[in-house]
Amino acid sequence: MKNIALLGATGSIGRQALEVIEAQPELELVAAASGSRPIDGLAPLTQVGGDLTELLERAQPDLVLNAVVGFAGLPATLWALERGVTLALANKESLVAAGDLALAARERGGGLLLPVDSEHSALFQCLEGRAAAEVGSLVLTASGGPFRGHTRDELVDVGPDDALAHPTWSMGRKITVDSATLANKGLELIEAHYLFDVPYDRVDVVVHPSSIVHGVVRFRDGASLAHLGHPDMRVPISFALTYPQRAATPVPALDLAAGLVLEFEAPDLETFPLLRLAREAGEHGGTGPCVFNAANEVAVEAFLDGRLSFLGISAVVEEAIAAVDAAPARDLDDVVAADAAARHAARRAVQIGARA
Ligand SMILES: NC(=O)c1ccc[n+]([C@@H]2O[C@H](COP(=O)([O-])OP(=O)(O)OC[C@H]3O[C@@H](n4cnc5c(N)ncnc54)[C@H](OP(=O)(O)O)[C@@H]3O)[C@@H](O)[C@H]2O)c1
Repeated sequence: MKNIALLGATGSIGRQALEVIEAQPELELVAAASGSRPIDGLAPLTQVGGDLTELLERAQPDLVLNAVVGFAGLPATLWALERGVTLALANKESLVAAGDLALAARERGGGLLLPVDSEHSALFQCLEGRAAAEVGSLVLTASGGPFRGHTRDELVDVGPDDALAHPTWSMGRKITVDSATLANKGLELIEAHYLFDVPYDRVDVVVHPSSIVHGVVRFRDGASLAHLGHPDMRVPISFALTYPQRAATPVPALDLAAGLVLEFEAPDLETFPLLRLAREAGEHGGTGPCVFNAANEVAVEAFLDGRLSFLGISAVVEEAIAAVDAAPARDLDDVVAADAAARHAARRAVQIGARA
């Protein structure tokens, strides 16, 4: 039996995780948390909001599935890594904001960190059993989102409903907007750097509209291994929860003879500057990624509330990055301070933008 604590149980990942847990007799849900929606009776221990590490202390799970959205997931990520409790990580923002601290905690705790993001689950599987010296580079695929092929002029008037219409994945609102701006791929670039210890200049992003190839590892001998499958998060969730087994899911295998066409193109960094800004923040290191993440969270919220235009999202993030100097991320205080400063700068930028 594997005792599981599910954080973010009411969300898109959380609901799909409940389905996976329900179908696997060896997975036992011992604790569940949400941010504000009621979850009474969902698990023996439940918590709505508050300090999620209190729930984890009471539950003492074998595995934490962190499917909280945003920086709010950081304490739970650090709790699991510090104690060597297996962490199935969907909450990429915590690794982006505090990557160095998270890796140091994993080093001390000695537990497993299993990515739930489909691209990183794919890369993890392609890399398994391989020495770092054998790896040439990693490729993250991006669907391109609902605005692929658009020019900036065509994006001036798009609103939340347009951005939330994702062509291939059904996800929570924040990550769906992040997919439309390509900020999500920027966060994933930083996530890949920390998860797989590969420098940024050896992590590429390629647009692949049908989301069938989730990740590619190019090896030094000229071979590339790719991971393919239907875009369905139950597959990477199940992989992380049942690892090192590979349990059955209701997701069908690919039908290669049914006219499967795989197309790839370069991302448009002019129209979608957040991917470039994320790469720069990652290369800068320290609190740079934390500032990028916090400013993006504020900008996306403002966009969803109708207080900021779509193109304003990247403008606000760029202004916040310019306003907050990246510093070394030596401890949690540094990260929390950078997050707060970036949020403050981003809120100001939203207000100034709204008045302009
Ligand atoms: N959805 C996907 O397909 C997908 C794919 C890859 C990675 N991810 C990542 O997985 C994470 C979750 O994404 P999602 O799409 O599932 O988001 P979502 O549908 O918006 O769900 C977010 C979950 O987090 C909970 N939550 C928010 N703030 C919280 C807080 N302060 N304390 C405790 N719980 C809190 C929410 O609870 P309430 O409902 O009560 O607000 C909800 O259960 C994100 O980091 C995302 O980037 C998602």
